[in-house]
Amino acid sequence: MKKIIVLLLCVAFILVCFAGCGNAEPAGDNTEKKVYKMGTNAAFPPYEYKEGEKFVGIDVEIATAIAEKLGGTLEVVDMNFDSIITSVTQNEVDFGMAGMTVRPDREEYVDFSSSYATGVQCVIVKADSSIASIEDLAGKKIGTQLGTTGFMYASDDYGEENVIGYDKGADAVIALKGGDVDAVIIDNEPAKVYVEENAGLTILETKYAIEDYAIAVNKGNTELLDKINKALEELTADGTIDAIIAKYIKA
Ligand code: ARG
Repeated sequence: MKKIIVLLLCVAFILVCFAGCGNAEPAGDNTEKKVYKMGTNAAFPPYEYKEGEKFVGIDVEIATAIAEKLGGTLEVVDMNFDSIITSVTQNEVDFGMAGMTVRPDREEYVDFSSSYATGVQCVIVKADSSIASIEDLAGKKIGTQLGTTGFMYASDDYGEENVIGYDKGADAVIALKGGDVDAVIIDNEPAKVYVEENAGLTILETKYAIEDYAIAVNKGNTELLDKINKALEELTADGTIDAIIAKYIKA
């Protein structure tokens, strides 16, 4: 009798082992996949924005592809742009991706991946504005999104008292239309979207600054950074990143 019980226990034990192994298979169900949290500010088309309740855009799609390569899934965590780096440093999110420019002052807190896109800071004015070039911005009121490079450059070059920071780039554009500011400094692709959506606005020819966009991970998290860089390399090599960009930015 004892022998039979021992035998049955052994069989049960082996069955449990097999079941366990089965769950660990990558082809198995979603329940055990790591959820990669991406901190972003989903008010920055075409990089991240909402279509109804759904997060879409270049960054969202690239991050989804990266998370898949890492064997996980992506969760978008929407927040103010100027909270993203803190959220990364406090490990509330796994990485920040938000058309974010690589800057030495940010590198004090986070490490950046290799760059996956180029951004150009440009100036939006009303079509009938007297501002025709960057030099004309002196003494004018400039609208920007809080915490962005546009905000930093404008404050450095024209004095903080002349710069108004808004939670969203779109709010700065509304302020421009309403006459609260004379110009908006913002990244070129969102600028194009805003000018297309709002009649009577134009983008100045002169580029303000050219920058690299990259993904931010917590300082010293080389394990995740290496994985992200490898995924980016593969997604670049197989054309995935170009295809995603082409879907959102018409040449
Ligand atoms: N490239 C600029 C920066 O890094 C602006 C990015 C704003 N991104 C956003 N999702 N709102 O400061």
